[in-house]
Amino acid sequence: MSSTPRAFPQNFLWGTATAAYQVEGAAAEDGRGPSIWDTFSHTPGLVDNGDTGDVACDHYHRLEEDLDILAGLGVGAYRFSISWSRVLPGGRDRINQRGLGFYSALVDGLLARGIAPVATLYHWDLPQELEDAGGWPHRDTALRFGEYAHRMGEALGDRVHTWITLNEPWCSAYLGYASGVHAPGRTEPAAALAAVHHLNLGHGLAVRALRDVADPAALVSVTLNLHHVRGVSERDADAVRRIDALANRAFLGPMLDGAYPRDLIDDTAAVTDWSFVRDGDEATAAAPLDLLGVNYYNPVLVRQWDGASPKVTADGHADGAASPWIACDDVEFVQQPGPYTEMGWNIDETGLTELLLRLHHDHPGLPLMITENGAAFADVLDGDGRVRDERRIDYLHRHLTAVADAIDAGADVRGYFVWSLMDNFEWARGYAKRFGIVYIDRATLRRVWKDSAHWYRRVVADGALPA
Ligand code: NOJ
Repeated sequence: MSSTPRAFPQNFLWGTATAAYQVEGAAAEDGRGPSIWDTFSHTPGLVDNGDTGDVACDHYHRLEEDLDILAGLGVGAYRFSISWSRVLPGGRDRINQRGLGFYSALVDGLLARGIAPVATLYHWDLPQELEDAGGWPHRDTALRFGEYAHRMGEALGDRVHTWITLNEPWCSAYLGYASGVHAPGRTEPAAALAAVHHLNLGHGLAVRALRDVADPAALVSVTLNLHHVRGVSERDADAVRRIDALANRAFLGPMLDGAYPRDLIDDTAAVTDWSFVRDGDEATAAAPLDLLGVNYYNPVLVRQWDGASPKVTADGHADGAASPWIACDDVEFVQQPGPYTEMGWNIDETGLTELLLRLHHDHPGLPLMITENGAAFADVLDGDGRVRDERRIDYLHRHLTAVADAIDAGADVRGYFVWSLMDNFEWARGYAKRFGIVYIDRATLRRVWKDSAHWYRRVVADGALPA
């Protein structure tokens, strides 16, 4: 690591991030309707340890305490998500004022502390009624999402100046509808590709809605988990291209260039004819953005499968289980060298610099923001009340250095949000995977600053990484 402090640009935005279902709890309170994650987590066997988001971090009831933690960290921004079924219990029609009141109080509490609210409209918790009507594979869901965005823009648009439409639509489409490891747990490849399209369409409708009703100066963005894909050798270029098409360009294409990539349509021809894409949809999806949100955890290493030797699937999905990688049967995901986080993800910050520079090159003029980066480790609350998470500090230090490298090389990166403010419900992995810089004692829900939180507070105050 370097021996001089590494300074970030003057206006660089420092933040932390969470998502509604992962932290709020109060799942059946104040008129909230069920989402697909309530249904999924309550289905035995789908989430580790049978964990659910019923209580989560009880953030809904501990709002003031959590706002004070944010103020103590000194962050300039906080990224949270709005639970669609809390504000529109069935996904449409009637606003649930009590649910909306929570977000209004959250926004006001942030502003009172000088913290900019960054609101994500969709972080995976589709109202169950909309799933029952067909979910994201169904066009109507995109239209409902546009209406929901409109309602939120009207309600909060005077105070929220940065909006994110979708969080990681890759996960919503492929983990929700192809591999089924996320809600709603369906394993239907053709439906997953229809979901990709309706997420893109819904995104575009939401951007337009926000432009219509929110503060005209508001920044509108989307958060993608772009996969930084590398091939084992030059012979693997086609495997890299296929994964890049399915994971990245399936979203970047329509959202930024107004068209699906031709190779994606060709690669998936045996699965779908893409007839769900109607005239004008791609133009709608391409509504101009002010920022692109990037979530980064680790790179991906692939190889062309020879069709004979046992196939390697080191991407987290179990061998023999449904794959999120539609029409990529000839691609192997190769185990990468460690060290690894508690999720089994390898730590390699060089992928972040490379990814940011690729985006800078491919989409010049579009500012970037790291809307998530962080790591799960098996943190322990020591007898003296400290959580000595030096591996997380090292992870964050490395990745912030990678961001600084990208900035030095010309990338326009405006901010960085640690995932996550606090340990929370890590989806199918439950509470055992701890990503927070604040520790949550599951027995009491007490919040304890980890060493990484103290470290991050210093970085934010200095606007620089320590030497
Ligand atoms: C991305 C997701 O947006 C977030 O919800 C999740 O907890 C983290 N990655 C870690 O897996």
